[in-house]
Amino acid sequence: MPVERLSTGVPGIDGMLGSGIPRGFLVAVTGEPGTGKTIFCLHFSWQGVKEGDKVVYVTTEESRESILSQAEQFNMDLRGAVAEGKAVVIDALMGRASDQWSLRSLNPEDLVEIVLKAKRYLGYGRARLVIDSMSAFWLDKPAMARKYSYYVKKVLSRWDFTVLAVSQYAITTSEAFGWGIEHVADGIIRFRRFVRSGVLRRYVMVEKMRQTPHDLRMYEISIEDGRGLVVLRPGDMRAEDVALPPKVVERMVKAKRREEEAL
Ligand SMILES: Nc1ncnc2c1ncn2[C@@H]1O[C@H](COP(=O)(O)OP(=O)(O)OP(=O)(O)O)[C@@H](O)[C@H]1O
Ligand SMILES: [Mg+2]
Repeated sequence: MPVERLSTGVPGIDGMLGSGIPRGFLVAVTGEPGTGKTIFCLHFSWQGVKEGDKVVYVTTEESRESILSQAEQFNMDLRGAVAEGKAVVIDALMGRASDQWSLRSLNPEDLVEIVLKAKRYLGYGRARLVIDSMSAFWLDKPAMARKYSYYVKKVLSRWDFTVLAVSQYAITTSEAFGWGIEHVADGIIRFRRFVRSGVLRRYVMVEKMRQTPHDLRMYEISIEDGRGLVVLRPGDMRAEDVALPPKVVERMVKAKRREEEAL
């Protein structure tokens, strides 16, 4: 049977994936700050609304209001979808007791509980979930990344969710927040940024997608007001432009070893 794929809402990225993300997958969306992870997740969510999917968006770095306003800048009426009961935005930043869709502690059991509550509220059917970001759940204990990701994937896959889990990538601190999740995830979509000739350029690459003959090239992207994320053309980076400096890699390996020993 052919694999059913969900459009990401960004035609250029669907093209890199041979039409989309296989239903039921958990895909890690990784990258440095400001590279387009949240905006990509908004496209995925809005596409879900347009296709009649149940959409749940968990936001840990920005408030619900910030997410809804950002979506508006790209003509995605996520606010309307929430009002009509087609989507739920769970606020894990500004959580208030009076708000039933707020998450006030960042632990995976509570996350799963509120996501399932949202799914029951939205009703039966194909569903999309964004966790932006998943790294927030293991910020003070990065060695738990793999265990938490595995737990979330295992429970939610039974509920017909296709999941985007954002994982931040902080080379400056040598903390590899994404490592655990990158092995558990069915796919990895990696955003990057470089400054070239004094201009910030952003790129995207599919680093992994099980069951998919995906594009292996890195593409330059732009983020445009009113439109959102647009895939431009394959990038012309040299290996030394994209490789992490050996010293950083060494520090990451050491940090990971220390965490594992501490467990
Ligand atoms: N209306 C807009 N028009 C054009 N560019 C925009 C607009 N809104 C945001 N951007 C660009 O998108 C960037 C933010 O992208 P996004 O929020 O997806 O990053 P991110 O990868 O999620 O970062 P973080 O890890 O910090 O959450 C901004 O820094 C800005 O460059
Ligand atoms: Mg973000």
